[in-house]
Amino acid sequence: MSTILILGATSDMGIAIARLFAAKQFDIQLAARDTSKLSYLQTDITIRNNVRCSIHQFDAVDFTSHQTFFNTLSPKPDITVCVFGYMNDNAKVTDDLNEMLKTMHTNYTGAVSILNIASKYYAFSKKGCIVGISSVAGERGRQSNYIYGSAKAGFTAYLSGLRNALHESGVHVVTVLPGFVYTKMTEHLRLPQLLTAHPNDVALSIYNAVQKKKNIIYVKWFWRWIMCTIKLIPEPIFKRMKL
Ligand SMILES: NC(=O)c1ccc[n+]([C@@H]2O[C@H](COP(=O)([O-])OP(=O)(O)OC[C@H]3O[C@@H](n4cnc5c(N)ncnc54)[C@H](OP(=O)(O)O)[C@@H]3O)[C@@H](O)[C@H]2O)c1
Repeated sequence: MSTILILGATSDMGIAIARLFAAKQFDIQLAARDTSKLSYLQTDITIRNNVRCSIHQFDAVDFTSHQTFFNTLSPKPDITVCVFGYMNDNAKVTDDLNEMLKTMHTNYTGAVSILNIASKYYAFSKKGCIVGISSVAGERGRQSNYIYGSAKAGFTAYLSGLRNALHESGVHVVTVLPGFVYTKMTEHLRLPQLLTAHPNDVALSIYNAVQKKKNIIYVKWFWRWIMCTIKLIPEPIFKRMKL
């Protein structure tokens, strides 16, 4: 039986990923900073799927705890999914250094810190899979969320380099660019229904990407073309746009 580690397991996407992989008979390791939020999910997954489901304390911004956190996982996961993230209103983030650092450290530094540790283990084992949930916000900086977007851009670049570095070791790295998704993170926003996915769509896309060894996935296919178009807009025009 294979084991999947979900970092940020209290997130709506993390819950959907845990439920889907458990239904596919994976053992599940749920990791979050507030483990009390995970008890119901653990019980439910165990009863429904007859798989092992464990709970682990993990804080993305407590960088120095990451090595010990990974060392104590038993068994080591075959797949590590980095789901956690943080987004606040861009104006609040640019006005408050703590919010700025929290945005950068949660979405970039924390993700790189823990995945660097997991990737060294996978490179040594010559197998394994890393899934990173980044964002289309990282594909071109926009005035409405460029602090979050720049952290995700860094994370996307990190995953790209990691995929390149680990290819010869047989380790697979998936970059997930979900587009809009209905979750707690976006519940205050009015999202266009056609362009917005559900957490279950994200989970299914990730499962398929892992099985088919895909590298970069957009959950709804048209986001690839939306972002392609946005990236083609010449900078003199782009800088005048209200995006
Ligand atoms: N929703 C979208 O439209 C969208 C689009 C593109 C990408 N994404 C990305 O998708 C991922 C999942 O987000 P979501 O939409 O499912 O939002 P969500 O439900 O708000 O989940 C965010 C998760 O991050 C966790 N987290 C925040 N800071 C943490 C820390 N220091 N240590 C550990 N966990 C921490 C939160 O844990 P707590 O329960 O402890 O707060 C929560 O589980 C994020 O990386 C997000 O950036 C979302």
